[in-house]
Amino acid sequence: MPGRYYQTTPIYYVNDAPHLGTAYATVCADALSRWHRLIGDETWFVTGTDEHGLKILRAAESNGVSAREWVDRTSSRFVEAWKALGLSNDDFIRTTEERHFRSVQTFMQAIYDNGHLYKGTYEGWYCVSCEAYYNEEDLLDHNRCPVHEKPVEWFTEENWFFALSKFGERLSEWYGAHPGAIFPETRRNEALGIIRSGLKDISITRTSISWGIPVPWDPEHVFYVWYDALVNYISAIGFGSDHDRFEKWWPAVHHLLGKDIIRFHCVWWPAMCMAAGIDPPAHLLVHGFLLVGGRKMGKTAFNQVDPVELGEDVGNDALRYYLVRDFAIGHDGEFTYEGLIERYNSDLANNLGNLLARVATVVGSKAAGIGPPPQRRPDGSASRLAETAAAVVGEVREAWGRFAPHEGLEATWRLIRAANAELEAVAPWKLDPGPEADAVLGDALEVLRIVAVLVSPVLPDTAEEIWSRLGLGGSGSPAAPGNAGPEGILDWGGYPGGVPVTKGRPLFPRRSVE
Ligand code: MSP
Repeated sequence: MPGRYYQTTPIYYVNDAPHLGTAYATVCADALSRWHRLIGDETWFVTGTDEHGLKILRAAESNGVSAREWVDRTSSRFVEAWKALGLSNDDFIRTTEERHFRSVQTFMQAIYDNGHLYKGTYEGWYCVSCEAYYNEEDLLDHNRCPVHEKPVEWFTEENWFFALSKFGERLSEWYGAHPGAIFPETRRNEALGIIRSGLKDISITRTSISWGIPVPWDPEHVFYVWYDALVNYISAIGFGSDHDRFEKWWPAVHHLLGKDIIRFHCVWWPAMCMAAGIDPPAHLLVHGFLLVGGRKMGKTAFNQVDPVELGEDVGNDALRYYLVRDFAIGHDGEFTYEGLIERYNSDLANNLGNLLARVATVVGSKAAGIGPPPQRRPDGSASRLAETAAAVVGEVREAWGRFAPHEGLEATWRLIRAANAELEAVAPWKLDPGPEADAVLGDALEVLRIVAVLVSPVLPDTAEEIWSRLGLGGSGSPAAPGNAGPEGILDWGGYPGGVPVTKGRPLFPRRSVE
């Protein structure tokens, strides 16, 4: 049954420009959103930037500009990068926007009114890069942050506290009743471990800086950056200003997040929602890291790759394909340029590109450039490829449904390889024009039509190009909403035949590693 699908990414800190690690998360969210549109779900996909806090203020200071100027400049680098990569987000939320201020203040006021906040003094070790306090026992030697390996700072402040400690039992019960809420299972266990080990109350406001959202009942304070940032997920859908819109998308959300921010998303955020009187988020999908030489790609390790430059080099679709195919959601993976080119050559150039090129060439020489329809065997049954296609379509649907698009792609490539093998076996280029050549060409064209639909969430431009070369340009798009849904167009036999097939330039010319 088509439903509703609300996809988010973490909102990225604007102390830094986008890199391939943050692009990975955003591309995965984009592909998931496109898949859900394809199966007919009403879909809303939001990403954005996290613009308050000390880390951002210091980045602005060290660049000699005002905080406002800095966040505008850096946030637009994210907007531009996602545009250059062709991402399909429906909205881009910034925490410095008026709509976000209003939602945060309404949300936090509700928590205050419900009696879950109190005033106290906080002292502790603080990592400005994490924007988080640490217990002494969690630090590395010389009081260094375990994530950034940089010295932490001692802070003493009068703060408002959130009584998180009261929510341990409710969180455990909620996760008990919603066993599939956190994916994958190992991350669910990690979150449950944090909850079981006992939750401490957390300070949620700061007086030491003013670069933040003022606390409505105590305006000397601003909300601590995480408390402001997490609320983006509901401010983007009108919390506090557009009740119907909020109800439409919440709580059926899919939050995609990195494994470093499980505590904030799987513990703090659901508890905050409970405290404010709204349902916790329904789905939390935790992904791993893109590594370079075994270290997380990012500012700390000085090992960032510019995703826009890389997309210009190999093509956005090829980059997307590599990220979704080689980095299973939930696992870490090592990025190498060689790995990218290898994947490009083996799957895109040698298999998909080759199938399209040889079919179009032989349709040109043996069928006067007009694609024949898929054929039936003399006994009326469809070809072997039809059986493979039906099995693959089922597997692809199932794989996306359990957040394993890499397996969906693997299955799709099985179909592509089967079509190439069938062509090799029949060798229509050696046959005289006629029914035998037409049969295998029609089947291969039908495979390409189905493949164009199946790969469209990951290879959107390629899918459109295949569609138009098959002569289907006049009949919508491979990515049209619902194409992969129950009333969709994935049943064998949809290629009409009788339409012109164009050869065109190679889709993916082979590459070497320079
Ligand atoms: N601003 C917070 C999130 C607030 S969400 C309410 C934040 N920002 S971040 O820019 O530091 O990181 C955002 C996301 O990018 C995190 O989920 C993090 O895991 C992800 N990634 C950053 N580097 C990454 C890799 N090298 N690989 C994969 N994901 C990476 O945390």
